[in-house]
Amino acid sequence: MKRVRVPLGERSYDVVVGHRAVAELASMVPAGCRRAAIVTQAGVPLTVDPGVPVTRLEIGHGEQHKTMATVEHLCRRFAEIGLTRHDLVIGLGGGMVTDVAGFAASVWHRGVPVVHVATSLVAMVDAAIGGKTGVNLVEGKNLVGAYWQPRGVICDLDALTTLPARELRCGSGELAKYHFLTGDDLLAMDETERIARCVQIKADIVAADEREGGLRALLNYGHTLAHALETATDHELAHGEAVAIGLLYAAHLAESMGRIGAERVEQHRRVCRSYGLRTALPVGLDPADLVRLMGRDKKVVGAGLTFVLDGPSGVEVVADVDPAVAEAALRTFRG
Ligand code: GLY
Repeated sequence: MKRVRVPLGERSYDVVVGHRAVAELASMVPAGCRRAAIVTQAGVPLTVDPGVPVTRLEIGHGEQHKTMATVEHLCRRFAEIGLTRHDLVIGLGGGMVTDVAGFAASVWHRGVPVVHVATSLVAMVDAAIGGKTGVNLVEGKNLVGAYWQPRGVICDLDALTTLPARELRCGSGELAKYHFLTGDDLLAMDETERIARCVQIKADIVAADEREGGLRALLNYGHTLAHALETATDHELAHGEAVAIGLLYAAHLAESMGRIGAERVEQHRRVCRSYGLRTALPVGLDPADLVRLMGRDKKVVGAGLTFVLDGPSGVEVVADVDPAVAEAALRTFRG
């Protein structure tokens, strides 16, 4: 079992990673808590016992349920069960559950404690850590949300043994990016150590830049093209799958801009392949369309495109990339 601290002053908390980590849940329940609302989904492979009476509230599967309506429904159930500021919300599930449960906790009574029990690889290495919460609007993904740090996070690796292969692959897309944020050889580590190391890398970044004033944007490595691919394929390509393609494209683009050499690009390819990730662009997509979509990325600030790119001093945010350069790199990108 590994324990990683997210150091945020009086809002600091632990992330516990390992098999049977769920046994640590009771130790994260605030003193004086009289009940907990468990926000979860049907089919989540873990049961939890926080040691106080619980009410289980299920939300639907799929992005169409990641809405303000779901948050309103949860808050009305919180009212029915009399959930107070001394009580607890538990987000039990993957990234969608921890995003929605965290957001509901952040707005109920202007903020009640939340503990996340992450059951997917995406939630363990990314979504459940760092306090980003939110829901979608018709106008776009994750447009409404809040930073609301949990009191603790549990990554029980037993949950991964039943995770469908595609979901595991999606988590691997997020995991692959951590290889390039620090240079650690994550492939040489066992599963517990590797997931705990990703949590540690994210914890360090969140501690340095909780509200994404700069450094935290590095966690979006590979995401500029990924978001465009998700939109262009109407989400046929899942987020983590798109991130893998986005990582290799970011390396190819960095090479075309003279920032890194071919060996470093090859290293990106090797890491993605070693997790069984596909890195070629889906057929039939128009590079000009993808460039247009990349221009709508939340990171864009100026006239050009904004990417997170590798370079001589490591991975950094690069603004004002000429759209023509990005399009040319897409046309020569072989995955
Ligand atoms: N998923 C990126 C972040 O938490 O900042």
